[in-house]
Amino acid sequence: MLGQDGGGETHAVSLRWRDGREESLSVGPDETVVDAAGAAGVGLPYGCLYGACGTCTGKLLSGDVEHAAEPRALKPRHRDVGYVLLCLAEPRSACRIEVGARVQADLVPNPWK
Ligand code: FES
Repeated sequence: MLGQDGGGETHAVSLRWRDGREESLSVGPDETVVDAAGAAGVGLPYGCLYGACGTCTGKLLSGDVEHAAEPRALKPRHRDVGYVLLCLAEPRSACRIEVGARVQADLVPNPWK
C-alpha cells in the first residue's frame, strides 16, 4: 500500500533478534518502528519514546530510516555505523534491523569489567 505524499509510503521492515527470532512489520507513513511493532503485537524494548534514553536502540542492517527528531541518546559515531533509535525511526525504504536489549548493551561500557 502506498501513501499519498512524498515521504509517505508504507515499508516492509524485518526485525532480527540475536537469538535468531525474526518478525516482519509494515510500517506506515510517519509511523515509527516502535509504534508499528506495538500495533502488530511485537514487543520491542523502549523507555522515554522521545530519543533520550537509548532503550530502543537498534542497528540498521540494510535500508534507510530517518529520525523524526534528534536522536539524542546516540553519539554521532554510533549513528555513523548504523545505530538508530526505533522510537523515532521512520523507514524510507524496506529495512532489516537488528533489535533487542543486547543491541543497546553494545553501546554502553560495562563499569564492572
Ligand atoms: S525509547 Fe528512549 S530513546 Fe527511544
